[in-house]
Amino acid sequence: MFSRRTAHEAEPNQLSRALRQRRAAGLGVCDLTQSNPTLTDLPYEGPGLLSALSDPRSLVYEPSSFGLPSARSAVQGLMRGAGCEVSIERIVLTSSTSEAYAFLLKLLCDPGDEVLIPQPSYPLFEHLLTLESVVAVPYRLAYDGAWHIDFDSVARGIGPRTRAIVLVSPNNPTGSFLKQNELTRLESFGLPLISDEVFADFALEPDVRRAGSVLRTDDVLAFALGGLSKMAALPQLKLAWLGAAGPAAPLAAALSRLELVADTFLSPNTPVQWALPAILSTRAGVTAALNARIRRNFAALCTAFRDSAAHPLFLEGGWYATLRLPALFEDGAWALLLLEQDGVLTQPGFFYDFSEGALLVLSLITDESTFALGIALIAERVRNLSG
Ligand SMILES: Cc1ncc(COP(=O)(O)O)c(C=O)c1O
Repeated sequence: MFSRRTAHEAEPNQLSRALRQRRAAGLGVCDLTQSNPTLTDLPYEGPGLLSALSDPRSLVYEPSSFGLPSARSAVQGLMRGAGCEVSIERIVLTSSTSEAYAFLLKLLCDPGDEVLIPQPSYPLFEHLLTLESVVAVPYRLAYDGAWHIDFDSVARGIGPRTRAIVLVSPNNPTGSFLKQNELTRLESFGLPLISDEVFADFALEPDVRRAGSVLRTDDVLAFALGGLSKMAALPQLKLAWLGAAGPAAPLAAALSRLELVADTFLSPNTPVQWALPAILSTRAGVTAALNARIRRNFAALCTAFRDSAAHPLFLEGGWYATLRLPALFEDGAWALLLLEQDGVLTQPGFFYDFSEGALLVLSLITDESTFALGIALIAERVRNLSG
């Protein structure tokens, strides 16, 4: 009766079941997975945001396939700030980055076509691609003290049905940024690039080797994804965008086809589009607070595991840290043990398809006192178990 695309595992996993039981028993949870910024006590300018969202112009519906020009100009200003000059004709507003992916997959792929996705990375890719009847083919990110694209695995993954390569910079959860030499090699495959740059404002340190946005490219079709959910920490406002770049003829064709897709949905709501310039002008305080918290939490993590059998992997940016644990158990078993014995909730690495060792993913945007308590409990457990 139903499509194969929507088949999925309906049973909650062991960790979710254990969490539910713990909460039902009234036991506390020290949650190191919190990645909803609106629940983490950030200095939002609430009244300013709410008044920007009640602009009287929002009472009129003016359908525009790529979004209101004033909002697209605001995005253009952001891109200019990041060193990319992009005309507003090349900017498409969507209601989320997920929707931007869906638009691009409709643009580039027929059912059964393949798209390369990084591994480890954002777990939603599997669903985003499956729902568009597209096959996800992983390529490997390898760790040797820093993260690199394994280009052999990229080359192996490319076949006659490959339609695009997805990259995430910085990646979720490894925090690794795409380097210029990696971008040059990716371009050399001649395939369209879909670059998820939603975490681009979150770097621990500058690094001249980083590629910056793919919007600088004109060798291959390239799409850069951004949105309010991370850069302004406002996921509930449901506004994201994609910018397009590339050689003139395929770029013009891509935009014409994207117009058909976008016009069919006309998704972004009007109030958020009128509010966008004001939202962007007030985001600096929140971004600065988040960056400061990420830095302090990561520093605390490094200190907590300085003389430990566990240690955090090298991190360049993003909202997450990866902690390598002694290989006494697999990461799923570690996460379960920490929840059941210590009340600490973490994400096991297998959620992100890590292939190397027992790894836990921790959210660095967790408020600092919760983070400090959680990592102290993990450090103590590691000490007890590794003798
Ligand atoms: C890599 C990546 N892209 C996109 C998103 C979500 O963006 P949106 O809320 O705009 O769909 C996330 C959320 O965690 C993410 O990790």
